[in-house]
Amino acid sequence: MVNYGEYADNNLPMTTFPTTRLRRLRYEPNIRRLVRENVLSPEKLILPLFVRHGNNVRNPIHSMPGNFQLSVDQLVREAEEAAALGIGGIILFGIPETKDADGSTAMSDDSIVAQAVRCIKQTVGTKLLVITDVCFCEYTDHGHCGVIGRNREGMFDVDNDATLGNLVKQALVHCRAGADMIAPSGMMDGMVQALRTGMDTAGFSTVPIMSYAAKYASSFYGPFREAAESTPQFGSRRSYQMDPAAAAGQAVREVALDLKEGADIIIVKPALVYLDIVRMIHDRFEGVPIAAYNVSGEFSMVKAAAGKGWIDEKAVVLESLTAMTRAGASIILTYWAKDVVRWLG
Ligand code: PBG
Repeated sequence: MVNYGEYADNNLPMTTFPTTRLRRLRYEPNIRRLVRENVLSPEKLILPLFVRHGNNVRNPIHSMPGNFQLSVDQLVREAEEAAALGIGGIILFGIPETKDADGSTAMSDDSIVAQAVRCIKQTVGTKLLVITDVCFCEYTDHGHCGVIGRNREGMFDVDNDATLGNLVKQALVHCRAGADMIAPSGMMDGMVQALRTGMDTAGFSTVPIMSYAAKYASSFYGPFREAAESTPQFGSRRSYQMDPAAAAGQAVREVALDLKEGADIIIVKPALVYLDIVRMIHDRFEGVPIAAYNVSGEFSMVKAAAGKGWIDEKAVVLESLTAMTRAGASIILTYWAKDVVRWLG
């Protein structure tokens, strides 16, 4: 009798050479293709885009070659292109004209993101999922992800509970504009529950929440902060984003809570140096869609090295995104979304 238990336990083939030849599945390209399990496809990709005020604006983001701060008219063209390429969706980040302590422009129905969503929905319609990032760091003059209060030591810090109501207001602005999905990224406790309740009450119970559940206080966000003009003006985000050195199980707790609070999709961010977290969450939460966020620093590093001719951009990107898929991510947010679709041909 074949001992499958032994096979599963030590991961050894049941026979040895020459009966077993693992290269048999590798000799021919057609066989390799047949047995592949981690295959990238356009509809699983989400393209992050930055929108700002003005007309005919395409401000290059220096640390992220090929990415721009776009005015709504330009953004719509970008969205049309993404839809034509069959990309799953776009996620929008807004850069407001003015900032204040509370990020009040984000809570107005005239916010830059609301304008963008309305315009894209009118032109691109249902061909593309339009997701909005819900956070305050782009809209506050201090660059933090919520309302500032004082902590127990009397130091300035983000006031968790005071921020929740504002997050709901921002999310409702996006829902009313026609957003297909809301992606809260502020790492506030109770944020998903507040949003779910607020959205349900306002009649948006069918709009899903894609929560940045496991978001680390990472050095890989640097280029994004240039792009979104959202660098904190004092302190850091370490009192709300996760500590990279914390027990990996903290991410499990974050995800479990967000799911209880009503999250539909879970984001792990950044992607590449947190693939252990993607794998763990995939194994612990059966059936939960996981999105890996291939963040700005991951993008810029590859671009820089490729620009010097040191690595092959296309090969490195496809290999990296495949690794995210293999770790258990079924969705990938990436600045390379359009290139990937072209590369996949
Ligand atoms: C915060 C937010 C950040 C990113 C997405 N949403 C930056 C931050 O936490 O400072 C980073 C994405 C990237 O680096 O590509 N709302």
